[in-house]
Amino acid sequence: MSIIAGNWKMVRSPAATRTFFGQLRVDDVPSRHELLIFPPAISLVAAAEARPARVRVGVQNIHWEEEGAFTGEVSAEMAREAGAEFALIGHSERRHLFGETDEQVALKTGAAIRHGLVPVVCVGETLEERRAGMVDDVILRQLDAVLPELALSARVLIAYEPVWAIGTGETATPSDASSAHRTVRRRLAEALGGEAAARVGVLYGGSVKPANARELLAAPDVDGVLVGGASVDPASYVAIALAAP
Ligand code: PGA
Repeated sequence: MSIIAGNWKMVRSPAATRTFFGQLRVDDVPSRHELLIFPPAISLVAAAEARPARVRVGVQNIHWEEEGAFTGEVSAEMAREAGAEFALIGHSERRHLFGETDEQVALKTGAAIRHGLVPVVCVGETLEERRAGMVDDVILRQLDAVLPELALSARVLIAYEPVWAIGTGETATPSDASSAHRTVRRRLAEALGGEAAARVGVLYGGSVKPANARELLAAPDVDGVLVGGASVDPASYVAIALAAP
């Protein structure tokens, strides 16, 4: 079973979201695979209404407060009401373009869990950190920040997305992905116990395309992929899902 998650980022209006789902043909994708789409928040309702039953929807970002004077923000409860069942938390674009800290990522993870959203916590190193041999240090620091929250959730997904591979056409090798995923899994097993850790899905993200999806999805410890650019086109999203072993 593989998880094929599409992160549309700031692409696809509500009307374009309906068009996407109108063109999406998932009947040939084996039912063991789980299909998720993360549209922009403003397109959540359109996605929830237009999706086929087996594609589930998530929000790309939430604020941790319940409501209040936080102009431009969306709460977990609002996302849930709009149809989200999952929440991306701490995507590298949130961390690096919008200055999101480990502390904020932890608060958002807690808010998602309180409101019944499955958190998809994103971790990953920059190129400088990789060159400095700090891949595991960065992943573990980002993971440790959310561990107390994760212990409270029935279901958790972690996305390993090396920052240098996002939107660049550069992809981690399957063995880089496996090695990072093992680091994640080891820490989860220490913190949550082996059984709970085994239930956490660990996704790889960073320039996943139909052409490289199969080898990444077949790599040991890779439970799925988080796809950006190649997920906004229905044919290419389905091609990735069909490549899953
Ligand atoms: P990409 O994005 O597939 O366009 O590299 C992945 C992501 O940011 O989730």
